[in-house]
Amino acid sequence: TKTIWLDCDPGHDDVTAILLALYLPNIHLLGISTTHGNAGQYYCAINAARSLVAFGADDRIHVYPGVPKPLVLQPQYAPSIHGFDGLGGVEGLPAVDDPEVLARIAKDSEGANIRALEGMHQHIKDTWKNGAGSKISIISTGPMTNVALFVTVYPELLEAIEQFVFMGGGVGLGNMNPAAEFNIMCDPHAAQIVLDANVPAVMIPLNVTHQAIVTRSIHHKLLTANPRSDDSGSSLPPAKTALKHTLSTLISFFADAYKTVFGFDDGPPLHDPLSVAYVSCPEMFKARRFRVDIEMHGRHTIGETVVDLYNFRECDDSWGHKGKNCLVTETLDVDKFFSMLLECVEKCDAS
Ligand code: BDR
Ligand code: CA
Repeated sequence: TKTIWLDCDPGHDDVTAILLALYLPNIHLLGISTTHGNAGQYYCAINAARSLVAFGADDRIHVYPGVPKPLVLQPQYAPSIHGFDGLGGVEGLPAVDDPEVLARIAKDSEGANIRALEGMHQHIKDTWKNGAGSKISIISTGPMTNVALFVTVYPELLEAIEQFVFMGGGVGLGNMNPAAEFNIMCDPHAAQIVLDANVPAVMIPLNVTHQAIVTRSIHHKLLTANPRSDDSGSSLPPAKTALKHTLSTLISFFADAYKTVFGFDDGPPLHDPLSVAYVSCPEMFKARRFRVDIEMHGRHTIGETVVDLYNFRECDDSWGHKGKNCLVTETLDVDKFFSMLLECVEKCDAS
């Protein structure tokens, strides 16, 4: 079993990452911290809590709200993709003022105002037990502000971290400018700090997430729970359960947004759950190690993940950066990933 901490900004696809984190059999989720990103910090935290309640998560799993803005830049949100509240069009989640939802959000302890850091510190320390316990994979599916602060404030806990797996960046591909992906673009300084942190890093870039398209046929399968169903016609069957209805509305909104903004006709890419899928089953991916750094000053390329495909930088450490620092995933077993997702939906429905 892999023990994980999830830092996220829900966000339609982040919600499906939470579902995988709860229902993959070999994953143990310690807790969730939330960042600014797809929407402001308040919405991201409350959406994570609403997802935990909707998915019937163990009530010891809490949401720890994090830093409301990037380390240096001003915050940017993604209303055209996720709606102003991060979960536009998603039906059937509990209300933002539902007492069960509010109970999921970790309370402030006296004198502490970054609950994300406190939560990570406490859970990771207690799990690691100074080497007598187990290591933790930190998964990031939003801007990396919380994670960058964690590695800066608690260097003594770096040895407790098995790996950082982050959805972010692209190899010559961007969705915010021609070169930059949203999560990295929102807080490029944080991303560089995490890459510099001397802990194994795994990148799930757009090149891979754009392989995980929720086609009409997959949407249909989710609703019918029939592995042989591949009806890609225009009408979708009615959802049999409340969970399936919620996920269907989530996919439909995301699909419309991706069609309008990026012209994706076949369906939206499901970025974030791939990072959880990686921790559960790395064999599903092909990956190679490269030097990766973040462009922080480019006129046209701010937020780019500069992936050194031909190892130029290995012998150029004039900036203090040397060697390959990141495992960059390149391809994915798409069928296996979607079967994994549908199995988690069935498990959640049956629980
Ligand atoms: C990333 O940005 C967000 O909109 C998604 O949730 C995902 O984490 C994709 O660029
Ligand atoms: Ca996200």
